[in-house]
Amino acid sequence: MEKLQHFLSIKDLSQAQLLDLIDLAKKVKTNASDYSQALAGKSIVTLYEKPSLRTRVSFDIGIAKLGGHAVYLDQNNGALGKRESVADFAKNISCWADGIVARTFSHLTVEELAEQGNVPVINSLSDLYHPCQGLADFLALSEKFDDLSQLKLVYIGDGNNVTHSLMYAAAICGVEMVVICPAGHFPDGLVVVEAQQLAQQHGGSLLLTTDVQAASGADAIYTDTWISMGDDISYDDIKQKFAPYQVNSELMQSLNIGYFMHCQPAHIGQEVTQDVFDADNSLVLRQAENRMHAQNAVMIRLLT
Ligand code: CP
Ligand code: NVA
Repeated sequence: MEKLQHFLSIKDLSQAQLLDLIDLAKKVKTNASDYSQALAGKSIVTLYEKPSLRTRVSFDIGIAKLGGHAVYLDQNNGALGKRESVADFAKNISCWADGIVARTFSHLTVEELAEQGNVPVINSLSDLYHPCQGLADFLALSEKFDDLSQLKLVYIGDGNNVTHSLMYAAAICGVEMVVICPAGHFPDGLVVVEAQQLAQQHGGSLLLTTDVQAASGADAIYTDTWISMGDDISYDDIKQKFAPYQVNSELMQSLNIGYFMHCQPAHIGQEVTQDVFDADNSLVLRQAENRMHAQNAVMIRLLT
């Protein structure tokens, strides 16, 4: 299996690499002490152009659990490329650090960090992708379903960075995936084409529709905020259009859905109701916990 150089998008992974990361994440989760020195002597810069709770804390604590050292650069440092070029930023950080974790507005910034620096870069959310989230989510799904290739996964709501990473992960795992969005809010066209090709290659499928009934019988339904960080749109402008796409108990029951998933932060009363978010079949806290284990697996593969 080819060694990973960076972790910018799930689409860059072969099926073997993706399944290996899920498998390693399970080992890190259950046998944490075996990995307590995996990053000993290594320092990782985690930088943020946007707010974060789960990503910031799970990387910070996750790096500590692997015996490494995290250096946090917060949003107050401003957008990358303003004080100095992204290239100079990447080259300087590469003088001291062993890796970079970056949450940026533009995916081009993450790519430039990877091109211009000489240490591994992990994308911890860009406008296009959220691969750490997708990996953690597939870890959660694989804990609930032995054979991912038999899964029907539905994403409902705004086609966004999280949707894109889920679509690639589903396609590479041979999942039956349905993406349900209001007209005009579908995922990026190029990502759809790439994910459909990958799905075909791995025996999965990807259907896009505006019809909520297409969620019927899903093993899991996933939603995310209707307005992502950096989107220039107001809730008032979209709430009527998105209202039929809310995940509520009526939808869960009438369509016979298995599990509920959300990357968080959730907007209760918008994309999901409180009862669904808190229900026994909600995987949201498992997903959040798994962020750390999944990311630790990525760092072990990139840095050791
Ligand atoms: N899911 C996720 O990435 O959460 P944060 O934005 O809080 O990091
Ligand atoms: N789609 C959301 C995910 C937040 C974790 C955003 O980009 O804001």
